[in-house]
Amino acid sequence: MELGEKYNGEVIDFNSEGLGVVKIDNQVIFVDNCVIGDTVEFEVIEKRKNYYIGEMTNIINYSKLREKYAFDTSKLGGGVPLINLKYEEQLKWKEKKIRSDLYKTLKIEYDIEPILGMTHPFRYRNNTQIPVGIKNGEKTIGYYKRKSNEIVPIEEDILQKEIGDKIIKSIKEWMNKYNVEAFDRTNNKGVLRHIGIRTNQDSLAMVILVTHTRELPYKNELVHKLVSETGSVVSIYQNINTDDKVKYGKEFIHIFGKEYLTDFIGDVKFNISPESFFQTNSYQTEKLYDIVKKYLAPKKSDVVFDLYSGIGSIALFIANDVDKVIGIEYTKSAVKDAKRNAVENNIGNAYFYQGKVEDLLPQLQKKEGKPNKIILDPPRAGADKKTLFEIIKLNPETIVYVSCDSATLARDLKILLENGFEVKKIKPVDMFPHTTEIECVVLIQKGTKKCSLEGLI
Ligand SMILES: C[S@@+](CC[C@H](N)C(=O)[O-])C[C@H]1O[C@@H](n2cnc3c(N)ncnc32)[C@H](O)[C@@H]1O
Repeated sequence: MELGEKYNGEVIDFNSEGLGVVKIDNQVIFVDNCVIGDTVEFEVIEKRKNYYIGEMTNIINYSKLREKYAFDTSKLGGGVPLINLKYEEQLKWKEKKIRSDLYKTLKIEYDIEPILGMTHPFRYRNNTQIPVGIKNGEKTIGYYKRKSNEIVPIEEDILQKEIGDKIIKSIKEWMNKYNVEAFDRTNNKGVLRHIGIRTNQDSLAMVILVTHTRELPYKNELVHKLVSETGSVVSIYQNINTDDKVKYGKEFIHIFGKEYLTDFIGDVKFNISPESFFQTNSYQTEKLYDIVKKYLAPKKSDVVFDLYSGIGSIALFIANDVDKVIGIEYTKSAVKDAKRNAVENNIGNAYFYQGKVEDLLPQLQKKEGKPNKIILDPPRAGADKKTLFEIIKLNPETIVYVSCDSATLARDLKILLENGFEVKKIKPVDMFPHTTEIECVVLIQKGTKKCSLEGLI
């Protein structure tokens, strides 16, 4: 393989970032903008330790697995690498990925329950940040090209609610009419650098105008335009941010309407402030939590620990069905939100503690009693080893592990399996269609010789 040379090959898989995998003479090349089944021409642009990076120059044969859209998918930015693959094929690829990640580490072929996909896998994102900048001297609102600072302008984003498209259109018109400057990243000057849009299931929206400057010119004109033209903007904030590495700066200025956007997961109400974490796909979240609840099989006598509890959404979802639930979460603001959400929902048996799970777990059992069931929903990196050994010592009858990375899930399961636990059921849920991400709910219980290893081949 020579750098700068062009080659042809068939795409046989995706890598974990959604780049097409091509193999030529046992050499692996990752190629962008293609799908499984395409035959592509590409130029080799980089050599890494075990593989090459190729830039696609031509599609020679289009895959039968490609989806046909009425719009140009290349304008959606780099966040949805599987978009050109038919949705049912995306789901098959995700199932295969989980199976293969688990097999690589555990050498067990698990019988996975059918993946729960979306009926309509579009307009599901309830929280988007859209960069504003300059392209070819023009003010531009759109998404960054993959691994680049170039903004691709958007008219429509089929992943967010329609109200989001209307908001972008109104802001674009306002910028042009009043000549409000877009942020120029080449000389660090300008006003508007990002637009944050949060929506709820009733399509009401909160808009966060992220500015480089404290002054937001023609602010009242913008508020009037957004509210009158969209009909559903109920809250507007300005956020001052001088650092592109972070989504929002520290200072939020409330400039219109409600301070919170309200949304529901099941019957539980959440007040969402501009920077609060909230699951991005509300439709699938409720289904995900229903599976968590089903696997947990809650009883009125249960004491449940919800580890990595975020804003308490799982804890509050199951609270009415158990004796008590204890959430542990590292982020201070999330714990504050969780406590407030418990009060707002009149839930008196959910308690939240701030700190690292690995530090708090040994102390909390003394204070709150031993849990008989544990929910574990760690970030992509998985659970800390210390946490897993504390869980093993607690010897709960049931663990429900919610994972967003099947590779770290497999690593953690290995420790639990080596210590007498067994995997009973695995259910994948597609929370992020068109991306390579996949959520998994796993029911884990103490193994006994009598156990029928339900869920295993
Ligand atoms: C995948 S989120 C789960 C949130 C929540 N269960 C939900 O469904 O919305 C993982 C959470 O773990 C928190 N976290 C990360 N490392 C932690 C640690 N060592 N101890 C406690 N919380 C941690 C993060 O702040 C984040 O809120």
